[in-house]
Amino acid sequence: MRVVKVDHLTKIYGHRFNRVAALNDLNFQVDAGEFVGIMGPSGAGKSTLLNMIATLDTPTLGDVWVAGQALSTLTDSEAAQYRREQLGFIFQTFNLLPDLTVADNITLPLTFVPPRPTDMAARLAHVAEVLGLSSLLTRYPDQLSLGQRQRVTAARAMITRPSLILADEPTGSLDSMAATELLQYLTKLNLAEDVTIMMVTHDAFTASFCNRIIFIRDGAYFAEVTRHGTRQEFFDRIIDMEATINGGGRRRATTPRD
Ligand SMILES: Nc1ncnc2c1ncn2[C@@H]1O[C@H](COP(=O)(O)OP(=O)(O)O)[C@@H](O)[C@H]1O
Ligand SMILES: [Mg+2]
Repeated sequence: MRVVKVDHLTKIYGHRFNRVAALNDLNFQVDAGEFVGIMGPSGAGKSTLLNMIATLDTPTLGDVWVAGQALSTLTDSEAAQYRREQLGFIFQTFNLLPDLTVADNITLPLTFVPPRPTDMAARLAHVAEVLGLSSLLTRYPDQLSLGQRQRVTAARAMITRPSLILADEPTGSLDSMAATELLQYLTKLNLAEDVTIMMVTHDAFTASFCNRIIFIRDGAYFAEVTRHGTRQEFFDRIIDMEATINGGGRRRATTPRD
């Protein structure tokens, strides 16, 4: 089943002589349960794309469909409800509230709109268990390692039981051990909770935990790489595609004039 359809998505910033096409007729689809990586050179439009899916920005042309709904048709309050109920966010900067315990940080999204779910304690126990945070619930963020903090962010993203998690460089500020651990937890969430994940990353190692990588360049779809064999083999093919996209080689969209 298709969860996300990016449909001729175009975003132009600026006007007249100062126009930037951050997204330029981008098309692709994501199925339920996929763990998709989004890669591409800096300025390719990756963050703009996530912002569109998150309804934090609006397209110039085209649309994003999530679970059969065209996001451009949502009113402001419907968009707010969509973000609250269907999306989970994991960003590079943790945005944890320093004066709240880990437990209160995780359950925060459930307290925005009353009534609180009656199973809040059970949900907390469950996500804490899945993300290896059960023994840390009474701590405060500054008593955690960076890796633990990012896992709290992931738990907070999961507590509302979203159908889609959006992650922008979630391992960007982690050392490789903490990054590996977070990615293993994300993989577990993807499998056990049946949540679809879309993750922007510039890092091939991080990307190798996904099932499929969509490469974008100059705001348009460039290529994709799907995992078949081992993670190492997938990693190698991701590196190859990065070389292709950066070298501007055989998949050039337009023919050079000279
Ligand atoms: N708010 C904005 N105003 C003007 N230009 C923007 C804005 N946001 C992004 N851009 C431009 O759009 C392009 C894509 O940006 P972005 O989506 O952040 O790329 P990425 O995340 O892939 O590095 C870049 O050229 C960037 O400078
Ligand atoms: Mg970005």
